Amino acid sequence: MERKAIYPGSFDPITNGHIDIIERGAKIFPRVLIAVVENPKKQTLFSRAERVEMIRTIFKDNPRIEVRSFHGLLVDFARENAADAVIRGLRAVSDFEYEFQMALMNKKLNPSLETLFMMPSAAFIFLSSSVIKEVAALGGRIGDLVPPIVEARLGEKFRPAERSSP
Ligand code: PNS
Repeated sequence: MERKAIYPGSFDPITNGHIDIIERGAKIFPRVLIAVVENPKKQTLFSRAERVEMIRTIFKDNPRIEVRSFHGLLVDFARENAADAVIRGLRAVSDFEYEFQMALMNKKLNPSLETLFMMPSAAFIFLSSSVIKEVAALGGRIGDLVPPIVEARLGEKFRPAERSSP
């Protein structure tokens, strides 16, 4: 069986920082499953279906990368999908406490599931979905920080009038 890593997240929306981690993860693991969390308690700009559709479009030419949504515990989803490891990006010291807590809890829930942390490429160290949404909402340029489909969809969310104008 080919080894499979699971890369979970909110991806609201996916950024070039996520894509950097996914592409580098795919050099280590033959298969990568991008797991888009569906958390009814968390307000997202993009629906679960929109987030999944954007990511599937981005990776449509790579049969080794699969995209699915999940709810409930990550360790359960990982087990159902026969994942060997969880990949998470670790950008800065500020990420550390949350990631450490999550990795240790997941390890307690399923001791055989490893979490691997990857450092983002330097260009993306400051990048987050929240910052992207804020800049896009205020009309700033984000074209080199997200894939074209995400830039377009953010435009539709924040400037729907432009879309419908003749
Ligand atoms: O992109 P995010 O929001 O940092 O991703 C967080 C995510 C989806 C990885 C995390 O919230 C998660 O794993 N949620 C599923 C619920 C779960 O398993 N919780 C226990 C781990 S503490």
